[in-house]
Amino acid sequence: MKKILSIILAFTMVLGLCAMVGCGDNKDDNKTTGSSSNTSTVSNSEGTATLTTVTPGKLTMATNAYFQPYEYYDGDKIVGIDAEIAEAIAKKLGLELVISDMAFDSIITAVNQGSADLGLAGMTVTPDRLKEVDFSISYAKGVQSIIVKEGSKITSYDDLTADGAKYKIGVQLGTTGDIYASDEFGDRVNSFTTGNEAVNALIGGDVDCVIIDNEPAKAFVANNQGLKILETSYADEDYAACIKKGNTSLKKAIDDAIVGLIADGTIKSIVDKYIK
Ligand code: ARG
Repeated sequence: MKKILSIILAFTMVLGLCAMVGCGDNKDDNKTTGSSSNTSTVSNSEGTATLTTVTPGKLTMATNAYFQPYEYYDGDKIVGIDAEIAEAIAKKLGLELVISDMAFDSIITAVNQGSADLGLAGMTVTPDRLKEVDFSISYAKGVQSIIVKEGSKITSYDDLTADGAKYKIGVQLGTTGDIYASDEFGDRVNSFTTGNEAVNALIGGDVDCVIIDNEPAKAFVANNQGLKILETSYADEDYAACIKKGNTSLKKAIDDAIVGLIADGTIKSIVDKYIK
């Protein structure tokens, strides 16, 4: 565990540096002027860039919308921090946003197989994922938290690792919570397609705790009685958009858009709207 944490920490520092070095001017006047096959021509004050998107004129975002406050359903509409950031990116690029909801562990495949332009899903940048996709600069941070039932005998992470501990751990399939927990606890980990299902298993007594990102953990606790988050949180993470390797013009456009949205306070105001 310690080894994984130090790798993540070192990696996070490098990523933070890249984000700083990558900072540039905010161009706010992008416009799509034409499109053919799967390309959209976007002009901005730096000139004209040809962006390749899966549907001309559209920016298709793959996500898993059971991750409040980043993406979740309000009626049949997907809302949340990532949905609003993607909307703001699409606007800057002169593209129309389309959100495609899928299992979290299908997002990278969707991006790589060309059914989505980017994955935006509170997705943590990890060395393994970087082998499969590129990541934009980071727009938010997360940590892993542990949810238990009120009155649970589990009071800290150490209770899970203690000799002879048999506690069952619920996670969302393919997430970093799943990866770290499986590494540490092996077959004591039960993975579920959505965080909601993991939390329902906790409520129903099928697992003893759920390991999931901190902000969704807070939302699950707020939306369900009798749950609490342990004080111990671990694994500092950077969230970023994933993009197919080699689509450098789209990656640059998304990076520039995020830099601009950080610089002009848009991302902060979106985050503040959802996280009090
Ligand atoms: N940050 C974690 C990861 O990247 C969990 C993300 C889950 N996101 C979601 N939209 N369900 O693995």
